[in-house]
Amino acid sequence: MNKAYRKAVIAGNWKMNKTPREAAALIEEMKPLVCNAGCDVVLCVPYVDIAAAVETAKGSNIKIGAENVHFKASGAYTGEVSAQMLVESGVEYVVIGHSERRTYFGETDQTVNLRTLAALEAGLTAIVCVGETLEQRELGYTETLLKYQTKMALTNVKPEQLKNVIIAYEPVWAIGTGVTATADQADEGNGYVRAAVAEAYGEAAAKALTVQYGGSMNAGNAAELLAKENVDGGLIGGASLKAPDFAAIVDAASK
Ligand code: PGA
Repeated sequence: MNKAYRKAVIAGNWKMNKTPREAAALIEEMKPLVCNAGCDVVLCVPYVDIAAAVETAKGSNIKIGAENVHFKASGAYTGEVSAQMLVESGVEYVVIGHSERRTYFGETDQTVNLRTLAALEAGLTAIVCVGETLEQRELGYTETLLKYQTKMALTNVKPEQLKNVIIAYEPVWAIGTGVTATADQADEGNGYVRAAVAEAYGEAAAKALTVQYGGSMNAGNAAELLAKENVDGGLIGGASLKAPDFAAIVDAASK
């Protein structure tokens, strides 16, 4: 982290876990544990949990995010949710292009870009996910791929909108596997993302960009990962479902 230049943000990504009642209970448990955070604290929750999450988090320092957003404003898109619907529901952040959506739901670099533009246009902060598979890493494509995914996601994003962009570097092989990237690998991957933003928007913009690491970050390894210059926070899956674990990561980012 380098808090002199950019915000540290710890965001939970609950994925398809927790009913609305369970969401409220978990947030109640988290509130006192993270109330003195020295970083931004976000929980990205399933659509149906948003109302309960926003209500429970009210008056606290926890901000609520969604896990996806459609890129059209409205229309015949059965099952989809627009950016404006999220904003009106009290949502401030949205995860875009998570590798699970890329793998299981046909997400492409182009749709990631469209969702990012729609989210930013509506005033949401976009947490855009990029990351290489193990095969791509072993073939030596990590830098090329991360830069490509980053630039594709940000196509037509205006320089002044970048303040509402967070990029999460999540190596696909580290997500939900218990295999964490080493701190050096995380720093390097995040550095490639920052370099891509520097190429597209200049050094100052790149320096100000929050780049998270995600992939089996937990209470035990967070401090080491967050100690790296380019690791400005985390996108936390499994460990965000347990209040003490999530709070420990927030503590590590508050130093
Ligand atoms: P994990 O998930 O922390 O469970 O590996 C991270 C993510 O998918 O964002």
